[in-house]
Amino acid sequence: MSLLFELTGIRFAYPGRPPVLADLGFALAEGERIALTGPNGAGKSTLLHLMLGLLRPQAGTLVAFGAPRRNERDFLEVRRRAGLVFQDPDDQLFCPTVAEDIAFGPLNLGKSKAEVMDRVDRTLDRLRLRHLRDRVTHKLSGGEKRLVSLATVLAMEPNVLLLDEPSNGLDEATGERLVRILNDLPQAFVVISHDARFRRAVTGQQCRIQDGRIGPPRPHPPAASGALGT
Ligand SMILES: Nc1ncnc2c1ncn2[C@@H]1O[C@H](COP(=O)(O)OP(=O)(O)OP(=O)(O)O)[C@@H](O)[C@H]1O
Ligand SMILES: [Mg+2]
Repeated sequence: MSLLFELTGIRFAYPGRPPVLADLGFALAEGERIALTGPNGAGKSTLLHLMLGLLRPQAGTLVAFGAPRRNERDFLEVRRRAGLVFQDPDDQLFCPTVAEDIAFGPLNLGKSKAEVMDRVDRTLDRLRLRHLRDRVTHKLSGGEKRLVSLATVLAMEPNVLLLDEPSNGLDEATGERLVRILNDLPQAFVVISHDARFRRAVTGQQCRIQDGRIGPPRPHPPAASGALGT
């Protein structure tokens, strides 16, 4: 099984702050779906940002898609092949309308206008969001923004998805729709969620980040013991 990501001995601190992650190791293989859990502030989002080179570790090595990744040029390729859905949709969405936001990435990849418009419509249909196509992005509800964030990433057709609390703030029916969408995707993914039921529905195993370290991937605990919680 080939590894998509392999992080070894990663240490990271924000400037002037104590380390968030100390000697962290993490791997994601082709076909795997792993949930990340852990308390607020444990460093889950930080880990996803490190995987895409949005932050750089002070120590450790990161191999992605078979090559070591160190500088900005290395990470440009990583960001083309791995799509991050940010925890806060306002970090993701910056165009006036939903269609423009979804078109932005594929246009940047150099696709033709016709191909991009086709991808926008296909992605919206797949997520059943056609009705939001021409809406002003910043006037969407929180849940709508979250789904549009996912649409912007899926439209890039990445090899891997990094999903930071994608089910947050979704109503029950929409949350179930998200579960079906994720389960139908061909890609490997890492997903952060504080919702044990959601984690169990979309992944086979979970890793817990706490006190700067990450535990090994483990099967989900039985449903009864995981009612609410991280
Ligand atoms: N830009 C920043 N500058 C300084 N400290 C930061 C910055 N971003 C995050 N932190 C701190 O780093 C720690 C880890 O943050 P991170 O966002 O990775 O946590 P998280 O596990 O994703 O938490 P949550 O479950 O609340 O989303 C927190 O203590 C946070 O306050
Ligand atoms: Mg977070």
